[in-house]
Amino acid sequence: MSIWTDRHVTVVVSGGIASYKALTVIRLLMHQGAQVRVALTAHATEFITPLTFQTLTQQPVATDEFAMTDPEHVVHVALADWTDLMLVVPATANLIAKMATGIADDVATTTILATTAPKYVVPAMNSHMFANPATTRNLKQLVADGMTVLDPATGLLAEGYVGHGRLPEPPEIVAWLTSQLLATATELPLHGKKVLVTAGGTREMLDPVRYISNRSSGKMGYALAQVAREMGANVTLISAQTALTPPEGVHYVQVTSAAEMLTQVEQAFDATDILVMAAAVSDYRPVEMAAQKIKKQPEINGLTLELTETTDILKKLAGQKHNQFVIGFAAETQQLLANATRKLTAKKLDLLVANDVSKPGVGFNGETNQVTMLSQNFAPITTGVLAKKAIARTVLETAIAQGATQKV
Ligand SMILES: Cc1cc2nc3c(=O)[nH]c(=O)nc-3n(C[C@H](O)[C@H](O)[C@H](O)COP(=O)(O)O)c2cc1C
Repeated sequence: MSIWTDRHVTVVVSGGIASYKALTVIRLLMHQGAQVRVALTAHATEFITPLTFQTLTQQPVATDEFAMTDPEHVVHVALADWTDLMLVVPATANLIAKMATGIADDVATTTILATTAPKYVVPAMNSHMFANPATTRNLKQLVADGMTVLDPATGLLAEGYVGHGRLPEPPEIVAWLTSQLLATATELPLHGKKVLVTAGGTREMLDPVRYISNRSSGKMGYALAQVAREMGANVTLISAQTALTPPEGVHYVQVTSAAEMLTQVEQAFDATDILVMAAAVSDYRPVEMAAQKIKKQPEINGLTLELTETTDILKKLAGQKHNQFVIGFAAETQQLLANATRKLTAKKLDLLVANDVSKPGVGFNGETNQVTMLSQNFAPITTGVLAKKAIARTVLETAIAQGATQKV
């Protein structure tokens, strides 16, 4: 399930050189689960054929207002009423001008006027056309009329020079739309909530090239950040170095050591509603970081490192907690429940997610996990071995069921 699942999206394509990129936008939307139908201006068909759109969407493409193949339905009204979201991509200067004045002289403009669905407009044109006061005025009018407009990119134009007016790349267009939808989806369970997630294994430097760390891949934390965002939250992900790409649409902060993670978490904590500490934070760090790479010393047999405790982030924050819902993680290799219960109480957590990382398919690095969730007032819940995204969803749903969104 995604915010796009079964959403009816009508894509209006007008006659610009970037029309072909609408095909990729459509593919990406369909890949996310949207149902897509297309209306083309007559000039759009000069650039790309209806057949291509019809084949991709497996739906008839609206090109002619008066092609009444179905006597029971007027093309533009049927399409307008079917639409949950309208996307105009690319929007030519001409189409924008027509939209700003309410002209309805073909199937594209008539459908735009006839639908009550929210409208998103992605202009693309020559930079001088874009900067023309008429275009500026028309775009302002679209915004005043309640439409949402994406600013074009600055880059190489079809004309062979660099300018402001280029169509942003299709993944950027879809990411922008997804953000817009998530921000307005009041029905989502974490809508309006600020979720702070930590992830990855911190690194404690021994010298400029060596460090102490652990086997955490960050996958569980990244899955939590992604799912929290899909559930409507405004997500900040504070992560130690990992090999992962941060999920789309989350505010990403990269740190190295436990001390850096503490600073960043403390800064964000006050404004947080739900804190999910999924990072594997080092319990110890070297007393001193050597300024230069530590050399081999053959005259000494072995090398002893002196370590000192790092600040326990969760414990410290427990003291600063006002109404945040705090979720901790415990990776154990023995006596899972006893150790986890101790941590739950000592750190005043609202929910503790414990996993036995000695079991196959559980914990660090893999694609799957199995957890037991403990809290003060509820019976423990143990999941099956599931993909980390499914575990993330269960953890957040359990937190919501146990009052995470009720704290004010
Ligand atoms: C090769 C070529 C490329 C064009 N590219 C654009 C463009 O990127 N943006 C734009 O606003 N107009 C562009 N135009 C001009 C439009 O095609 C023209 O204004 C047309 O009337 C738009 O019709 P429509 O808005 O009904 O699709 C281009 C024209 C040609 C011949």
